[in-house]
Amino acid sequence: MRGFGFALVRTARSRAELQTAQRGRPSDLAQRFSHSAAGPGRPSFGIAFDIDGVILRGRSPIGGAQRAIRRLYSEDGTLKIPFLFLTNGGGVPEHRRALELSQLLGVDISPTQVVLGHSPYRELVNRFEDDLIVAVGKGEPAIVMSEYGFRKVLSIDEYASYFKDIDPLAPFKTWKVGQTESYLSAKVHPSYDVYSERVKGVFVVSDPVDWGRDLQVLCDILSTGGLPGTEKGDQPPLYFAADDLEYQAAFPSERLGMGAFRIALESIFNQISYHPLKYTSYGKPNPFVFKNAAKILEKLVMSMYPDSQTLKEVNECQFSAIYMVGDNPKVDINGASKAGHPWSSVLTRTGVFRGKDNDPQFPADVVCLISECIVPL
Ligand code: G3P
Ligand code: MG
Repeated sequence: MRGFGFALVRTARSRAELQTAQRGRPSDLAQRFSHSAAGPGRPSFGIAFDIDGVILRGRSPIGGAQRAIRRLYSEDGTLKIPFLFLTNGGGVPEHRRALELSQLLGVDISPTQVVLGHSPYRELVNRFEDDLIVAVGKGEPAIVMSEYGFRKVLSIDEYASYFKDIDPLAPFKTWKVGQTESYLSAKVHPSYDVYSERVKGVFVVSDPVDWGRDLQVLCDILSTGGLPGTEKGDQPPLYFAADDLEYQAAFPSERLGMGAFRIALESIFNQISYHPLKYTSYGKPNPFVFKNAAKILEKLVMSMYPDSQTLKEVNECQFSAIYMVGDNPKVDINGASKAGHPWSSVLTRTGVFRGKDNDPQFPADVVCLISECIVPL
């Protein structure tokens, strides 16, 4: 088996040292800072890849990403290096995203290797199991929540469709014409008694599509204690899968993300309500996300090397390094730095970050192109 190195490891954070390291070609760096996976034991390191701005822009793989990911597999297609995707994006169940990524990247990615912004929502099932909840965002937010085990879920598209005139601008939204999905196909008769049953929780699963309508309907739900058109009441719990102000996507400059939507909702809600908006945000840079990712990588390595000494406690992290490869300093790099050992950060220049050197506010351990990140030894 050919040796394998993750090129850019634990370089010093000072600018001078970083520049010296970057002057070397990736292969030089690989020889200086490499962890071997060719030995008899398990690899001593794992990798977490951000998706938007690192692996993909829109639906197109970023130059070098396919090659870099394929190098983590043996010739026969088996996984050689434990890695996962750690993204703040979402909107489809993990198994669907794994399939999409497998097709786009030409390798076999398992659902356990996909951690989405909303993945932690499954931990909240017990609290809301039989309560009516509303799921917001692009894709199939209600299907995501149902698959996690929530029993009474409506997408905001469907929920809004039961309240006549809730969105006074709906007749002017000619862009809806041609959409075959959820909004127009909403059932005429609600599955639940939405006119008397209060919404007990709101989950922003992915980037909201119709901001104007969603801001209106969420203000209605949140200010009335879960029943639009009625008196003011206590705010039901509100969750955001992530808090990214901006993300890369396919357009040349950054696009407004879920964090921007949160700011819009919070600003408006705080003007129309007696109490400030209460909410919980998940996603990177929350250290909990990195802890969880480390656990998943431990489980993954145990399944790759069932006979090795890895049969110890999963809670005990045995990696000497886990690399977070991301494009957003505030989210990916800040998160990895806050998570501490064994996390190291690798900042790519293919997305939100475009600087020449390092990010001044959230400096990464290494800055590179995705194609330079992973080199065979
Ligand atoms: O909507 C996705 C975006 O907010 C971030 O995605 O993969 O860069 O964490 P990612
Ligand atoms: Mg990104």
